[in-house]
Amino acid sequence: MIIQWYPGHMTKARREMEQAVKLVDLVIEIVDARIPESSRNPDIDRLAGSKARLILLNKADMSDQSVTKLWVDYYKKKGIEAVPLDSRDRGSMKAVRAALDRASEKKRERDRRRGILNRPVRAMVAGIPNVGKSTFINSFAGKASAKTGNKPGVTKGTQWIRLDKNVELLDTPGILWPKFEDDSIGEKLALIGSVSEEVLNKEELAVSGLSFLKDRYPGAIAGRYGVEEGEDGPRLLNSIAVARGCLQRGGEADTEKAARIILEEFRNGKICRLSLELPQEER
Ligand code: G4P
Repeated sequence: MIIQWYPGHMTKARREMEQAVKLVDLVIEIVDARIPESSRNPDIDRLAGSKARLILLNKADMSDQSVTKLWVDYYKKKGIEAVPLDSRDRGSMKAVRAALDRASEKKRERDRRRGILNRPVRAMVAGIPNVGKSTFINSFAGKASAKTGNKPGVTKGTQWIRLDKNVELLDTPGILWPKFEDDSIGEKLALIGSVSEEVLNKEELAVSGLSFLKDRYPGAIAGRYGVEEGEDGPRLLNSIAVARGCLQRGGEADTEKAARIILEEFRNGKICRLSLELPQEER
C-alpha cells in the first residue's frame, strides 16, 4: 500500500522546533509504544543535538507489555532514559519525573561546577501528531499550569509552565512529522491511526492488520469476533462482516463497514494489546 502524506506545514514545524530546542536543556520525545521507531522523527537526533533526552513510550496501556520492556532495555543500552506510559494517568507522572531528573543530572552537575545554583531544568515535549503530547503536558503539569510569563531572551510568546523550582516546561509541544521512508512505516502509522483517513484504503489496511494479528497474536481475532482464523485476509474480513452483522441491502457482506470497525478496535486496543515492531536486535 502506498501512502502519500506530506502535510504542507512540515517546514514550518521544523523551523519552530529548531527555535524551541535552543531554549531548552532537555527534549522529551513522545513516541507510540506500539511503534516506537516508526513514530519517531528521523531528524530528532539532529534537532536535539547534544541536549539531554527522555523518550516516553506513550499509549503503553495498549502495547504488548513484554515488547515494551524490550524497547526500554534497547534505549537504555543506547544511554537514553525511556519510560512506558499512559499519559491519561496522572499517577504515572512520578516515574516520568524520576526519569527526567536522571536524564538531566549531567546538566545539573555542569551548573554546579560553574557555580550556578537553582537554575531550573527547561524541557520541551516533541512528537508526531496524535501521539499524546497535549494529554501528557496536561497530566504532567497538572495544577502547575500557571505560567511564569515571558523571560528576557526568550522568543516573544514563549510560555513556560513552572512545575516546581527545579523544572520548567515549554507550554507548547514541538510537532514533528513521521518518516515515510518506506511503505511499511506508513502502514504501521496508518494502523495505529496516525495518518489521515482519507488517504487510506481501509479494506486493504484492515486486511493487513488482520494478517499481522494472525501471525503475532494468534487467537486474538477468534476471541474478539468469533470467527475461524485460518482463512486468508480478505475471507476473514468477509467472515467478520457477517459475524458483526455488517450487511449490504442485498444481504452481501459490507466489508468496508467491517474494515472500519476492525481498524477502530485495532487502534483502541479492543482486540488485544499489541506491538507492531520489535527493537532491531530482536528481529
Ligand atoms: P497530540 O497533542 O500529540 O496531537 O495528541 P493528544 O494529546 O491530543 O492525544 C491524541 C489522542 O490520544 C487522544 O484521544 C488522547 O486521549 C489519546 N491518548 C493520549 N495519550 C494516551 C495514552 O497514553 N493512552 C491512550 N489509550 N490514549 C491516549 P482522542 O480519541 O483524540 O480524544 P479523547 O478520546 O481524549 O476525546
